Amino acid sequence: MERRKFIGLASAGAGVALLGGTPVLLTALGGCKKHGTMDMGGVAPKVVEGAFDMALPVPPTMSASAAKLTAQRTTASVFKGKTSSVSGYQSGGILGATLTATKGDTVNAVFQNSLNEVSNVHWHGLLTPANMDGHPKDVAQPGGSLTYSFPVVNRAGTYWYHPHPDLKTAKQAYEGLAGFFLVTDSEEQALNLPSGDYDMPLVIQDKRADSSGNFSYAPDMTDLMNGLLGESVLVNGVHSPFVEVASKTYRLRLLNGSNGRIYNLALSNGETFMLIGSDGGLFAAPIAATSILLAPGERADVLVSFGGQAVGTEVFLESKTFDGGEYQGKQAFNIMKFKVTESSTDNFDVPTVLSDYATLPEAAATKNRSFDVSNGGGHGGHGGHGGNMMTMHNINGDSYDESRIDETITAGATEIWTFDNTEGIDPHPMHLHGALFQVLDRTGGRGQVFPHEKGWKDTVLALPGEKVRVIVAFGQEKGVFVFHCHNLEHEDTGMMLQMEIV
Ligand code: C2O
Ligand code: CU
Ligand code: CU
Repeated sequence: MERRKFIGLASAGAGVALLGGTPVLLTALGGCKKHGTMDMGGVAPKVVEGAFDMALPVPPTMSASAAKLTAQRTTASVFKGKTSSVSGYQSGGILGATLTATKGDTVNAVFQNSLNEVSNVHWHGLLTPANMDGHPKDVAQPGGSLTYSFPVVNRAGTYWYHPHPDLKTAKQAYEGLAGFFLVTDSEEQALNLPSGDYDMPLVIQDKRADSSGNFSYAPDMTDLMNGLLGESVLVNGVHSPFVEVASKTYRLRLLNGSNGRIYNLALSNGETFMLIGSDGGLFAAPIAATSILLAPGERADVLVSFGGQAVGTEVFLESKTFDGGEYQGKQAFNIMKFKVTESSTDNFDVPTVLSDYATLPEAAATKNRSFDVSNGGGHGGHGGHGGNMMTMHNINGDSYDESRIDETITAGATEIWTFDNTEGIDPHPMHLHGALFQVLDRTGGRGQVFPHEKGWKDTVLALPGEKVRVIVAFGQEKGVFVFHCHNLEHEDTGMMLQMEIV
């Protein structure tokens, strides 16, 4: 048991049970369920809606080729009439600027760590050299800085950034460190999609705040097992916001930036989302969907039309109930409100063709790898060696170990990866660094690939009972990358492995 890690976790405020100086998962807290996963019981916290009378902030944009991100403790107006202590990448606000780049640009981002603990930046979804990816071991000390420089090779799309230090990713993201990274390219620009005020990045996150509006990170055992779910749902850092819109078509870039909560997104007027892209950029063609089950880490790029809606019309972005295992999906709630305040003619036509990219044939794969993400097998299921917190979750029975390479992959290879949650009882959004993939199929559970899972992805949800196969296109960048569950409590309690691209 690495003492360093325990100290790190304890100082993160985790509820650790001590027995003879060793942190343990007490079986008395819940007993064991089938397949060895611990049942910590409990019901997910009920979402409490606000009055939808705080204006939605839109983060300022900043060129990724001359970016400065300073992680710091600061304050923000998250709840009505309160000032919350938060973290942000600038003073006086939660979250960070929306970084913008055109494919082919060179990112130049200076990261200054003004926190009192190590931190770094991971560019979620962007294909970067290994030493620029924000690997958990590549951190800036408190007061230190790092410079990130790499070419933007990704297609136009909605990417994001957040901290990734070992054992502190969940804490730092929860406290407020995250931002969008939007890439455009000539193919996208030719489509004349809604832009400017009509292109809204929306990051959805849930927090558990105290009466003064603070939400310090203090997960208990139930939170570590299930992911920390909060009662307050924020969009762009504000609880239950509203935004005024014109009766036109908007592009909404939906990002689930929550630690553990999954949202089943829908519009309260029953209108469809016109899906135009997912994690890794635009689809070949738009696809209509009435709901989108979006797990932590995933993005949905959608067009929503308020065309023809009378001034005064209110439409909510809501989350509907869904079958998310025993803990999630039991409650429907509103997330934010769109208020039509301006009538205008909507002459936007949804393009019938969006992007041209290759669908990878299964036959292109040279290797298959299978990952048991049910947390039932191996030494992690019962809390690991003596039940330490860092092995509470696992992949194929192994928990994260910085000194061990779990998979060795040939640069440029095409492989089929299977995430097998057949025996599991918790949802796991599985995420790869250093590569994008296409979802091939899902068996068990929901038994299909959904419209928002088309195109290029970097995160895919495996609900209990499901097995998901993806075809991965590895890049040429050699080095060590991680892959993990994007339920950040799962990730920080071991559900992350390393692959080396050789
Ligand atoms: Cu947003 Cu390692 O991930
Ligand atoms: Cu990532
Ligand atoms: Cu998980």
